[in-house]
Amino acid sequence: MRDASPQTVYLKDYTPPEYLIETVELNFDLDEQLTIVRSSLSLQRNPQSKHQNLALSLMGEELQLISLAIDGVSLDEDEYTLDKESLLIHKVPQDRAFQLKIENSISPAANTALEGLYLSSQMLCTQCEAQGFRKITWFLDRPDVMSRYKVTLSAAKDKYPVLLSNGNKIAGGDIDQNRHWVTWEDPFAKPSYLFALVAGQLEAVSDEFVTHSGRRIELQIFVESHNVDKCAHAMQSLKNAMRWDEETYGLEYDLDLYMIVAVDHFNMGAMENKGLNIFNTKFVLARPDTATDSDYEYIEGVIGHEYFHNWTGNRITCRDWFQLSLKEGFTVFRDQQFSADRSSKAVKRIADVNALRTRQFAEDAGPLAHPVRPEAYIEINNFYTLTVYEKGAEVVRMLHTLLGPEGFRKGCDLYFARHDGQAVTCEDFVNALETANQADFSQFWLWYSQAGTPVLDVTEHYDAANQQLHLTIKQSCPATPGQAQKAPFHIPVKLGLLSDDGSAAPIWFNQQSSNEITLHVTAAEQTFSFANLAQAPVVSLLRGFSAPVILKMERSLEDLAFLLRHDSDTFNRWEAGQQLAIKVIFELIKNLQNQQALQLTPLLVDAWRNILQDKFSDLSYQAMLLSLPEESYLAGLMEVIDVDAIHEAREFVRISLAKQLQTEFQRLYTLYHRDESGNFQADAIGRRRLKNICLNYLISLETPENYELAERQFYSAGNMTDQMAALATIANSRHPAKARSLDSFYHQWRREALVIDKWFALQATSSMPNTFATVQSLMRHHAFDIKTPNRVRALIGAFSQSNPVNFHAKNGEGYAFLADQVLVLNDLNPQIASRMVTGLAQWRRYDEERQILMKQQLQRIVSYAHLSKDVYEIASKSLA
Ligand code: PHE
Ligand code: ZN
Repeated sequence: MRDASPQTVYLKDYTPPEYLIETVELNFDLDEQLTIVRSSLSLQRNPQSKHQNLALSLMGEELQLISLAIDGVSLDEDEYTLDKESLLIHKVPQDRAFQLKIENSISPAANTALEGLYLSSQMLCTQCEAQGFRKITWFLDRPDVMSRYKVTLSAAKDKYPVLLSNGNKIAGGDIDQNRHWVTWEDPFAKPSYLFALVAGQLEAVSDEFVTHSGRRIELQIFVESHNVDKCAHAMQSLKNAMRWDEETYGLEYDLDLYMIVAVDHFNMGAMENKGLNIFNTKFVLARPDTATDSDYEYIEGVIGHEYFHNWTGNRITCRDWFQLSLKEGFTVFRDQQFSADRSSKAVKRIADVNALRTRQFAEDAGPLAHPVRPEAYIEINNFYTLTVYEKGAEVVRMLHTLLGPEGFRKGCDLYFARHDGQAVTCEDFVNALETANQADFSQFWLWYSQAGTPVLDVTEHYDAANQQLHLTIKQSCPATPGQAQKAPFHIPVKLGLLSDDGSAAPIWFNQQSSNEITLHVTAAEQTFSFANLAQAPVVSLLRGFSAPVILKMERSLEDLAFLLRHDSDTFNRWEAGQQLAIKVIFELIKNLQNQQALQLTPLLVDAWRNILQDKFSDLSYQAMLLSLPEESYLAGLMEVIDVDAIHEAREFVRISLAKQLQTEFQRLYTLYHRDESGNFQADAIGRRRLKNICLNYLISLETPENYELAERQFYSAGNMTDQMAALATIANSRHPAKARSLDSFYHQWRREALVIDKWFALQATSSMPNTFATVQSLMRHHAFDIKTPNRVRALIGAFSQSNPVNFHAKNGEGYAFLADQVLVLNDLNPQIASRMVTGLAQWRRYDEERQILMKQQLQRIVSYAHLSKDVYEIASKSLA
């Protein structure tokens, strides 16, 4: 067992800070082995705090104290108490402001957790969210303490020619021949988690942006010199995001300089530090030959996300970490809107819903379920979850749906006006929206406080005599840890009706008619009635996925095929095709489990043929319509997950469709197969998507001609989308040239770390039978490095989270392997280790034999002697 049982932090225990810090002066003598930090804090009692305490308690971890002084008088050892997590100064002035000076040292090179100040490749950088600042110096490291920072950095000129921190550069110079210094000042008060510094041999790619009000902003992206040719897309994305936020939310950038630094070693995607974003290289670097279309889209989304945080996160921040979704849910919603406006709205929505349903729904249905606004945590780093981010964004989207775009904007304007410069709560946000619109969101609030995915059971009844349709909607929500009973949610359900020729049937509801309405589902059971319907219409429900719920409605294959042809709502049209495929696949799974022969219904073949033959202006959308539901989504719908049956049934459908529609797939493949490298217009992306999904079907036929097609595309592609798509189909088949292609790819790209990550992930996710052996040998590959999070995610993460058939091998080798790696990572990087445990968290969903094997590995993990809080929390809650 671990040394001491870790403590739980509760929202209900929140109290305002006892002291405030007005200004912070930081002085860094930077060196990778030993950095000296001198901190000078102007402190005073917080008038809001009612405490009687004369003492001051500061947070600090893994720091070496050198000296302490208050108002110039140094403190003796009996005037303070130091422990592993805090510094307690027994007595500080109560009736006036005072200056506390702290001198301490830290060791960046020894920091493998990548939190605080650390070394990434040759450069020094920081990561302070959520509680990393306390690994730099002692501080009131909590987001409701906001201070103005002045930061001086000094370092060796040759190793660290570029020295960056937040705000504006105000001074600098040489110390001697070898060392230099720079001072930065950030005029905006900020919480410590937004502090950043970077030092290294970096090249800047520069540009500028003129704001709506005419201010000239300097934009800089800092990368290592070999990456200078991969910054153009990130820069363009940044400018697009800045313009978009002005146009959509009326929000302008506030400093004169905006910097982005790309680093190789990063626990997450990117970080919104004020004026100095630090990014995982994965979300900055792109060149047509090294990055796929999806990479380009992710980069634009993440660049937007971090930029949007400047208002939703930085200017207005969180009072405490329970409010994380205040900034993350809202900012994800904003980046989703931005990406939708920049590309295909339909495709973006489908992609977001797909991710939510496969991953967040699983989280919400498992042992780690928690509300969007959690009420307790052991380690806050474990709460950067799909629920806080993705479901949080859905909650904001529902508010947008309920208020309409204008009402939502009015509410946001009030939120920004009221709370600029403050650290606030989720209630403050909802409250601003309510006040600006005279709305009442008291029931809606349950979306923040109740965990679990609501289920809607819908039955329809057509009354021919009265020409009425009655829809009865029952809502329920399963119990989640700590929440046995749930009250009914306020659920916006968008609805359309289709006549039998496929056109919209007018919806007569409350004596008014329209083509689409939003129903307010608020009770456990409600019936909605629609008049003037001479014929029974086909119902299109939950259009645009207007609420993050599970919709259960008995539908015939014919109705689904009808909606797939005619629904004017692009989301529901796609959804009808998915539901159709799901029904078919589950029939096949049943047949497999009963050892019956498989046969594919012609209805699905006809539906797919229609999609292949229809004319689409948005080819990305057409490609999505042709995609079969992913195995992990199918798994989520199964009582007891049968990974092998899911895989086999889905493969059977893929191969059967390919056989029966081969000419159609070939026709479209040939039509769009020409290389359009460098063209990132939405229509060119669409052509690539469509061509590559056709290739994916065709290669399942395992014929020499189709094998050759894939190989030809692999060797001739001038862009990574086409090259990767070809290699992925090869790696997932019995292609005779598989080993040769993988080798060739490695040698072609061995100098491009992000491409080599793809090479690892591709092999780790192959459904072919020898994959586990491949994964083991890749662990010993000289390019594998357990200290690089991107590599760990590409190999261990991809295998354990995106390779159901092989990870869940019946002999348990996948589970034991994962636990081995979690324990190694636990000692190096607890955050990454705890992310990897999620592969075992869903153990209750599998058959008994697998349950036992998975549970054994979880137990092995919790009994490890030096378990981090991070891993302890996830593993122990998974077992509970
Ligand atoms: N706040 C970052 C984001 O969502 C994520 C992050 C959290 C990065 C913690 C690093 C550490 O944009
Ligand atoms: Zn964020």
